[in-house]
Amino acid sequence: MTSIFLPQVLAYRRAMLKARSSGNALADRRFAYAMEYKAGGDPASAAELVTQALHEAPDWAAGWLALGDLNEMLGRRDEAIDTYRQALRLDPADEAGAGARLARLGEMPPDGAMTPAHIAALFDEYAPRFERSLVADLSYRGPALLRMALDGIGRSKPFERALDLGCGTGLVGEAFRTLCQDIVGVDLSGAMLAKARAKQVYRQLEQAEIADFLFRQAADSADLILSADVFIYLGDLETIFRQAARVLVRGGLFVFTVQSHSGPAAFILNHDLRYAHSREGLAGWAAAAGLHLRHLDHASPRTDRGVPVPGLVAVLER
Ligand SMILES: C[S@@+](CC[C@H](N)C(=O)[O-])C[C@H]1O[C@@H](n2cnc3c(N)ncnc32)[C@H](O)[C@@H]1O
Repeated sequence: MTSIFLPQVLAYRRAMLKARSSGNALADRRFAYAMEYKAGGDPASAAELVTQALHEAPDWAAGWLALGDLNEMLGRRDEAIDTYRQALRLDPADEAGAGARLARLGEMPPDGAMTPAHIAALFDEYAPRFERSLVADLSYRGPALLRMALDGIGRSKPFERALDLGCGTGLVGEAFRTLCQDIVGVDLSGAMLAKARAKQVYRQLEQAEIADFLFRQAADSADLILSADVFIYLGDLETIFRQAARVLVRGGLFVFTVQSHSGPAAFILNHDLRYAHSREGLAGWAAAAGLHLRHLDHASPRTDRGVPVPGLVAVLER
């Protein structure tokens, strides 16, 4: 269990928790029985009971999502698609993640399938366990990879103003505090930001979406932009790269990790609902934004089921 990527598991649990409070006592009871059947290895009976629960509470988005997951488990692809679509109709902000599941099934474009509401909810749930599960159980080393990549290009002068995109609980801030006079962090999850705030390494922390945050930064206002293990939640990075180039001073550096794939597409949405990017895709976005590749090499940021996930670490220079 510990080597499974936890945000997805926790999102499912969160959906279950929300689903348990449908507002209808009979539906709740049926759903609770359904989960017992599911835990006991009988997804068909669980699906039947969730269907009955949805007769009582038809506007219950999390119930439809749970039914979609059960349909997928049962190999009922078409039913799964219908139930995810129903969840999305009932909850257009898509906190539960029906869009990502539809994209995984090829029923929605992959880009934008992970909504900000979904990511915020995922990490609000994950925050209390994040460092223990990611660092200890999944051998996470995203911040260390950023440091090594930067050290590798021989930069010794301290940075004046760094931005940490998707700062989470502040592990990157901790790793870079001695190199930077001033670090500003941004993240969608309030619970992750609260953990980062407690570390007292950031001058400022903002709860915002990365692209929105970058649009609001003045041109030539940062000399370092960092992002560790965040682009697994973003498909097309063209806007981020262009905005990073605008915000960086000349000579400023953009250092990040991605999960990688070797196919022809610039990015894909993996089965585990994380995006993977190709070298060619990153190089293309960098060139289009006027950023020079200083370093782009294989580096695995963490393990999955005990196996290192394929990844890349990049240093781009404006
Ligand atoms: C796997 S964690 C990594 C956190 C941190 N960078 C680290 O290395 O420990 C990914 C973080 O990115 C944030 N995130 C993902 N997509 C985001 C977006 N579009 N805008 C802002 N934050 C985002 C999540 O809320 C989460 O805290």
